[in-house]
Amino acid sequence: MEVIRTVAWMKEKTRAARLEQRIIGLVPTMGALHSGHMVLVERAKRECAPVYSSIFLNPKQFAANEDLSRYPRPLEADVEKLTAAKVDGLFLPDAAEIYPPGFSTYVQVEGLSERLEGRSRAGHFRGVSTVVMKLFEIVQPHCAYFGRKDAQQVRIVQQMTRDMNLDVEIVVCPIVREADGLAMSSRNAYLDAQDRKAATVLVRALRTAEGEISAGVRDALHLQGAMQKVLHGEPRARVDYAEIVDAETFEPVVRVSRRCYAVLAVYIGKTRLIDNLLIEPVGGDLRVEI
Ligand code: PAJ
Repeated sequence: MEVIRTVAWMKEKTRAARLEQRIIGLVPTMGALHSGHMVLVERAKRECAPVYSSIFLNPKQFAANEDLSRYPRPLEADVEKLTAAKVDGLFLPDAAEIYPPGFSTYVQVEGLSERLEGRSRAGHFRGVSTVVMKLFEIVQPHCAYFGRKDAQQVRIVQQMTRDMNLDVEIVVCPIVREADGLAMSSRNAYLDAQDRKAATVLVRALRTAEGEISAGVRDALHLQGAMQKVLHGEPRARVDYAEIVDAETFEPVVRVSRRCYAVLAVYIGKTRLIDNLLIEPVGGDLRVEI
């Protein structure tokens, strides 16, 4: 697998692929790759050739008090995984390559970026949309692969793509979980043994909401209350938010009737974890996807 460190060379590679009418796939990541990432890669490999993955620990999506400096960076293991998955190239720029001195242009998806994750992590989505816009421009993918794990991020990227008339199809992949249900995340590496156990409280809360929905509950406050009860039963957990939101606007809903998400952000010790449950109407009933 070729490792590509400069914007100029990355553009050259994909310009050539486009001229040959090949279908370019892109899987953007921040590294510390796990099965959640690799599922995106595998899907991209089935649908596109060539497939490029990027690893860029984007400083602009981390607030000053966040974990940029201690974010895991197991580059060798990441390269091995991408090589084994037969990814054609790894785009691995450094920060100065993406943000040279004097960089001053940002993409801001208004409204959506200010709710939930955006409210707790000021400037986070501005950093995400800016870097994703740049990656799309540099790699020129036909398809780009994102995980539903970060549901609000996906929605923001879709909105940006629509608003800016970008010719890229956003492909959304399901959440990959550990055997006990914890959603895979590079940040799970921060959890010590006791926190790791406590962290299953997120999926337990979501499963409780799932059970209530199957039993016919549609009232959002009732569902939120049921999730809160589970979360508050875990002494190591501190809830940032636990809401039922519309899947388009990410605004709270009163009743679960259209497509929506149960979304959670919970601190386990010092580690902030997120997870969600997709709820969608099918043929007069609700289908729930954990
Ligand atoms: P990162 O957290 O590395 O995630 C890269 C991609 O993997 C995202 O689309 C994310 O939703 C997906 N992913 C992570 N864990 C997953 C899981 N358990 N199941 C399914 N998909 C999962 O998200 C980012 O990086 C950055 O914000 C990025 C988009 C690269 C921009 O910097």
